[in-house]
Amino acid sequence: MTLAGEFIYSPLEERDIPELANALHSELVYQYIGGMPSRADFDLWLHLSIAGPPSEATGERWLNFTVRLAESREVIGRLEANIHDHLAELAFLYNPRLWGCGYASQGLLWLQNQLRENTSVQSFWATTHPENQRSSGLLQRQGYVRVPTQGVPTLYTYDSGDHVYKRSL
Ligand SMILES: CC(C)(COP(=O)(O)OP(=O)(O)OC[C@H]1O[C@@H](n2cnc3c(N)ncnc32)[C@H](O)[C@@H]1OP(=O)(O)O)[C@@H](O)C(=O)NCCC(=O)NCCS
Repeated sequence: MTLAGEFIYSPLEERDIPELANALHSELVYQYIGGMPSRADFDLWLHLSIAGPPSEATGERWLNFTVRLAESREVIGRLEANIHDHLAELAFLYNPRLWGCGYASQGLLWLQNQLRENTSVQSFWATTHPENQRSSGLLQRQGYVRVPTQGVPTLYTYDSGDHVYKRSL
């Protein structure tokens, strides 16, 4: 568990799932990331995230964190990094009630610092739906540059038509 300013970041655990559902199981959160899952599928995705990459996914490492407000301990979002091929694919999901406060930006900064300090990845990548302006705005404010999809390395979070953003270290 890490206390960073107003936030607590901790590795995702099974016991976080009900609180994460309160924060994130909503149409707004899933509007641009595949559509609203059933509650069972929401839980299943987190169970699989905690279990880690399947054995055939050689070389992949998944890092998942739950984000809480330090003062109230309220769960407000989650961060993930899929590390492979000397790069990290990053993703961030926050409670819509708290969008517009800069919390996700601070979470992304924290995650990038973790990766710089604890891994040897050489670049950060993120994929977003073209209409997901909050996500692309966050990435651009943090120095990510949109790159042409032709020639990018394999990205497991990429869906056809996504915009791809990269930040080199
Ligand atoms: C993507 C997502 C995390 C962005 O959340 P967000 O709150 O808009 O992002 P930020 O933390 O960068 O906040 C930016 C807003 O806070 C404001 N802000 C206030 N203090 C700030 C600070 N210290 N730093 C940055 N922004 C700050 C900005 O001006 C901006 O305001 P605006 O929305 O009125 O333009 C959120 O929309 C989300 O969870 N979406 C659903 C999941 C998703 O699609 N994830 C992306 C793909 S994995």
